[in-house]
Amino acid sequence: MKIIECSSYEQISKYGAEIIAQQINEKRNSVLGLATGSTPIGMYRELTDMYENNCLDFSGITTFNLDEYCGIDYNIPQSYHHFMQENLFSKVNIPMKSIHIPDASAEDAETACRNYEDAICKAGGIDIQVLGLGHDGHIGFNEPSDSFPVITHKVKLEERTILANMRFFARREDVPQFAVTMGIGTIMKARRILLLVFGDDKEEIMKRALTGKVIPQVPASVLQLHPDVTVLYGK
Ligand code: GLP
Repeated sequence: MKIIECSSYEQISKYGAEIIAQQINEKRNSVLGLATGSTPIGMYRELTDMYENNCLDFSGITTFNLDEYCGIDYNIPQSYHHFMQENLFSKVNIPMKSIHIPDASAEDAETACRNYEDAICKAGGIDIQVLGLGHDGHIGFNEPSDSFPVITHKVKLEERTILANMRFFARREDVPQFAVTMGIGTIMKARRILLLVFGDDKEEIMKRALTGKVIPQVPASVLQLHPDVTVLYGK
């Protein structure tokens, strides 16, 4: 595991974008696993700048997002569909047909989750997966639990996660209680992982995750078992 301490949020964003750009430049048809949350916004801005300056071409890229809230209108700003449009997809040339986000509104959630796994497989697997870190150690929406969930699945969100994500909603009651997320197994199958962590409030959980015991109660601790993880951390 490579842990790079950054001096600012801007530096995390810049280094993160450089790593993604290098991946794309080495393999034009890379499969990117993407994350939402406030942490990767700066990195998406840097990637957009590279595209606008003709330094990066996304036309061969396929993307799979980590997660999406259940029971949310995909057109409202709080949905991850909207977030990704706003922060990246509407600004670069990733073909629409190559963009994938879990279908959290499907009536048959199990089949939708299985289809998502199949689509990742068919695309050749994820080359690099971007992750943020939740305050309780969650990655995607894999909350602390008694076992590591293997595949894409529907989850009930922890109170702490709901409270943390409340800043994006008007009222607590508006924050969805459920989400669909890639499983820990899905994430661990990615060939490379890029974990972005920013802020004092993440320092303790990051230490527990990266240097403590590998336990499902701290989902991100599983990353210690992955052969190619880069962590960009700053506060
Ligand atoms: C949400 C997302 C995660 C994200 C986490 C951290 O719960 N589902 O994928 O990593 O928040 O978000 P932030 O970067 O805003 O701290």
